[in-house]
Amino acid sequence: MEGFREIVEGITRLLVPEVSLTSSVPPKQPAFYNPAARVSRDVSIVAYNAFITSTMEHSFADALAGIGARALRVAVEVKSMDEVYINDVNPIAIEIAEEASRLNRVERICRFSIDTAYRFLAEHSGRGSRFGIVDIDPFGTPAPYVDSALRAVVDGGMLSMTATDTPILYGIYPRIALRRYHGRSIRCEYANEIGLRLLLGMLSIVASRLEMGIEPLFVQSTRHYMRVYAKINVGSSSADEMPSRLGYAYHCNSCANRFIACIDEHREECNICNSSRLIKAGPLWIARVMDEGFVYSMSRVIDDMGYDLNLDKEAVKIVRIAREESMLGEALYYTVDEVTSMLKVRPPSTASVLDMLRSNGFKASRTSLSLRGFRTNANIKEVCDIIRALTTDG
Ligand SMILES: C[S@@+](CC[C@H](N)C(=O)[O-])C[C@H]1O[C@@H](n2cnc3c(N)ncnc32)[C@H](O)[C@@H]1O
Ligand SMILES: [Zn+2]
Repeated sequence: MEGFREIVEGITRLLVPEVSLTSSVPPKQPAFYNPAARVSRDVSIVAYNAFITSTMEHSFADALAGIGARALRVAVEVKSMDEVYINDVNPIAIEIAEEASRLNRVERICRFSIDTAYRFLAEHSGRGSRFGIVDIDPFGTPAPYVDSALRAVVDGGMLSMTATDTPILYGIYPRIALRRYHGRSIRCEYANEIGLRLLLGMLSIVASRLEMGIEPLFVQSTRHYMRVYAKINVGSSSADEMPSRLGYAYHCNSCANRFIACIDEHREECNICNSSRLIKAGPLWIARVMDEGFVYSMSRVIDDMGYDLNLDKEAVKIVRIAREESMLGEALYYTVDEVTSMLKVRPPSTASVLDMLRSNGFKASRTSLSLRGFRTNANIKEVCDIIRALTTDG
């Protein structure tokens, strides 16, 4: 097909628009493909391989599939997939995806459709036609698709979704976040964690309205996008649990203290410096954002299949660090640079900060959400003391 070129991503042959390989922002026409999202797709292949062993329903649906980069990779790279549904509103994208399915000899398990995501998902919302895994990967916010996506997932299935409206989730437009995600965003060093918690919060609010509950399994983010993976449980008892998982994240603009609080717990003052310069994000998800057992399974997938899947090094690193942080599970990470700029000292290595925290009896881990970030049960005052001691000694 003219204007398209064959490339290999993971171990899957894709037909992609030539312009998408050279332009800095991949164009939407004739069809959309973003080479920079490869790491996100690599991570999702690991997550789906980890999930599929725990479910009976081996079907996957990409409701906004583009040229099928993620969906075709699922058909080729996820073990024992029975059916992969590839839908997009753009007919050219679907024609190309169909041709690429034949190149990979997976056309037998692929089902193609040209429709809006809403209608496609609605047609699969009845008992017997729902999917084991649904992925929502729109331009911008996934908010408009969440209702229909939730209805199209089997009980115990998975919903994964991407958001690329990062200025909204990262606190530049908190009022838009409020109407889109039912919670305000804030500007802070760990804004991507706040954004992920807002996404999960919105998902849990919609799920509980539909008599469902969510269990976050994995989250991932970079500067330009964020992704969440959640198990969906149908029934009022799962829905009933949702309100207690919502609350607020507080940040003190005086001392950089951060903490989470339940929905009906109101804080006026910082519990460390007593300042009233507290800002508040939410309502958002305050429970764990990663499931320790699930991230362990993802790590095992890499051990067993990582080499054969031709995973990008970055994707492997993300999962390895996530494994470490999922065991700790502390909310709201710190970064070395924010603390050292506050203290006006030269930044030590993240590894030395972690060592020092541990040798002082605190729990500590890196975080997959930020290169220079770390999680710990130490509070900001204790973190400052540790970093000050480290930089004075060194
Ligand atoms: C970010 S791209 C998807 C990329 C793809 N999932 C991947 O991994 O390469 C978003 C896609 O949504 C499609 N789209 C936009 N609005 C839609 C709608 N209402 N229903 C279905 N598809 C839609 C666009 O044609 C585009 O291909
Ligand atoms: Zn304070």
